[in-house]
Amino acid sequence: MHEKTRLIHAGRTPETLARTVGPPIQRGSTVLLPNSQALYEDDLGYGRSGLAAQAALIEALAELEGAAAVQLYPSGLAALTGALLAVLKAGDSVLLSEGAYKPTRQFCQNVLQRFGVRVQLHDARLSAQEVLALIADDTRLILLESPSSLTFEMQDVPAIAAGARARGVLTLIDNTWAAGLYFKPLAHGVDISVQALTKYVCGHSDIFMGSAATGDAALGALLEAGVHDLGWAVTGEAAYDMLRGLRTLPTRLARHDQSARAIAGWLADQPQVLKVLHPALPDDPGHAIWRRDYSGASGLFGVVMKPGPLKAQHAFLDALKLFGLGFSWGGFESLAIRCDPQLASRRFVKALEGPLMRLHIGLEDEADLIADLAGALAAYEAASD
Ligand SMILES: Cc1ncc(COP(=O)(O)O)c(C=O)c1O
Repeated sequence: MHEKTRLIHAGRTPETLARTVGPPIQRGSTVLLPNSQALYEDDLGYGRSGLAAQAALIEALAELEGAAAVQLYPSGLAALTGALLAVLKAGDSVLLSEGAYKPTRQFCQNVLQRFGVRVQLHDARLSAQEVLALIADDTRLILLESPSSLTFEMQDVPAIAAGARARGVLTLIDNTWAAGLYFKPLAHGVDISVQALTKYVCGHSDIFMGSAATGDAALGALLEAGVHDLGWAVTGEAAYDMLRGLRTLPTRLARHDQSARAIAGWLADQPQVLKVLHPALPDDPGHAIWRRDYSGASGLFGVVMKPGPLKAQHAFLDALKLFGLGFSWGGFESLAIRCDPQLASRRFVKALEGPLMRLHIGLEDEADLIADLAGALAAYEAASD
C-alpha cells in the first residue's frame, strides 16, 4: 500500500475498545496491575511510559520511519538531547555539523562538554570524504542535519553514514525538514533519526514533541533507557493531537512543497534577490544530492537579498501582511524571519553575500503569498536608498 494509506491505518484503536477513528486518551500516572506477580513483571507498570494514545503514535511513527523502535520526548530539542545522552559517555567525542539547529550545537558545547564529551564542529559544506577524515579515535557519533538550519546546505548523508558505520561510529540526523516523509534516514544507513514533531507532523503550530527512531534493537533499548533515566513523558492529549496531524502529513506536505517551489522560483527572478537557498531548485549546490535521496521538499527555504541596510530588512519584514514574523515553522501558516544575528555565532559560515531571510510557505493561496512578497520586496528596495 502507498505510504499515504499506511499512515492513516497504522496505530488504530485496539479491537477490544469502542471503535473510534482515533485511540482513547487515557489519563493516568497510576497503572493498576492485575495481580501481585504482575507488579514487577508487566511491561506497563507506570503511566510515564505512555498509555494508549502514545502507543498508537509510536506505532504510526515506526511506520513513517521504517523503524524497529521509536521514543517520544516533550520537544524536538529534548529528542535530540535525550538521544545524545542515551548513547554518549565521558571520553567520547561527537562530530557535529555547524549547520545543525543552534540549540543542538549549544547543548553539545554547554552540556556535553561539561560532562567530558569532546565536541568537534564540521563545516556543513564538506564532502562525505572530508567529514569522514575528521573521525578520531574517540569519535562515537556524527550528528547531521540536511538541509542545514538557515543556510540549507545538503550533506551526503548515505555516504557519511556508510563510512561512519564501517569505522564503528554512530550517525544521528535531525530530519525535521523532510518530516520523516521526504527523506528516510534509516533506509539510507543512519542509526538514529530524530525529528521535531512540533513542526510538520503537528502541522498546527500548537504542540511540542519530538521523536527518535532506530532500526537497531540494541540502540532502541539504549534510547528507551535514556528516556526512563531522564524522566521524559508526553501526555495522552498531546500524543492524540500529534497522531491526528500525522494522518494528513502527506497531503499537507505536498501542498507546502508545491507552493514553496513555485514561490522560490519566482523569488529567484526578482531584482532584489541575490539567490534562493532551496535544494529543489536546479541550480542549488545541493540539488544533485536532494534529487538522488529525497522524494519531495518541504515549505522552508532561505532567500539571500541583494546587500541592503538593516532598515531595509526591517522594512521588508514589516511590510508583510500574510507572513507572520515567528521562529517556528511547519504549521499551516506562512512565516518569515531574518537570520543574520543567528549566523554571527557560527565559525565557518558567519554571513552570506547579502542579508539572509528564511521563509516558511504555508497553505495559503500561492498567488496571494507572491503578491505579499512583491509588496515587501518593493519596501526593501525603497528603504535601501
Ligand atoms: C531543525 C530543528 N530541529 C529541532 C527543533 C526543535 O524543536 P522543538 O521546538 O520542538 O524543541 C527545531 C525548532 O525550530 C528545528 O528547527
